[in-house]
Amino acid sequence: MMDLKGMTALITGASRGIGRAIAIYLAELGAQVAVNYASSEEQAREVVEQIKNRGGRAMAIKADVANVRDVDSMFEQVLAEFGDLHILVNNAGINRDGLLIRMKQEDWDAVLETNLKGVYNCSKEAARIMIKKRRGKIINISSVVGVAGNAGQSNYAAAKAGIIGFSKAIARELAPRNIQVNVVAPGFITTDMTDKLPEAVKQDMLNRIPLGRYGKPQEVAYVVGFLASDKSQYITGQVIHVDGGMIM
Ligand SMILES: NC(=O)c1ccc[n+]([C@@H]2O[C@H](COP(=O)([O-])OP(=O)(O)OC[C@H]3O[C@@H](n4cnc5c(N)ncnc54)[C@H](OP(=O)(O)O)[C@@H]3O)[C@@H](O)[C@H]2O)c1
Repeated sequence: MMDLKGMTALITGASRGIGRAIAIYLAELGAQVAVNYASSEEQAREVVEQIKNRGGRAMAIKADVANVRDVDSMFEQVLAEFGDLHILVNNAGINRDGLLIRMKQEDWDAVLETNLKGVYNCSKEAARIMIKKRRGKIINISSVVGVAGNAGQSNYAAAKAGIIGFSKAIARELAPRNIQVNVVAPGFITTDMTDKLPEAVKQDMLNRIPLGRYGKPQEVAYVVGFLASDKSQYITGQVIHVDGGMIM
């Protein structure tokens, strides 16, 4: 049985979708959980309430992961409330899709800043804490798009591929300190991010999924729970696909 009792976890972008499912699942496994969000305060509070109602410990923290000052203050709040940090899940992400020749510079920048620089900002702060304790788990949420590409998502694909290279580099740096760094690459998971896609795009995606259905946020959370636990102590620098077989 996986057990995260006594562990503290910070999940970025946990007000909705995949991050929300991860926060609730890690709390179910016994972790105390910091629920980060950018603007959906009410939804983040609802996640915290749900965890507390089930007997867990949780707090909501507003912070833009792309903003270093916000990130510094977020880590201070986690340490002030919980005293330690054992698990970081870099899940916050956005998309600003468009074909390359029409892609605005601001859309490129926004996606790279949030999806890639955000991972750097948070991993750096977490590593500082974890190195001292000689233990820790960093789990970064990439995407099948970062591995296989996708027309109309060059900014998103660049950021998500960047997460994979970044994670492998820091997995090597942090391995001697007993910190494991892994990547989860979801396929098409039903959330707000995918709900807004045109029906034709959704159908095209479905045709490319051997298991014949979209994934659920919970199915990503199960893998994150395993990677956050001591059952995965010998796994680092890996990319685990949760995509119904889209990429093999
Ligand atoms: N859904 C999929 O099919 C799929 C597939 C592959 C990978 N992914 C990845 O999985 C992650 C979660 O996706 P999702 O589908 O659950 O997305 P979502 O439903 O759109 O939720 C995104 C979450 O990220 C937060 N967020 C956005 N920008 C942020 C920022 N600058 N700072 C802090 N938090 C921020 C949002 O907070 P607010 O609520 O406050 O805006 C929200 O909690 C993303 O990294 C995404 O790229 C998703």
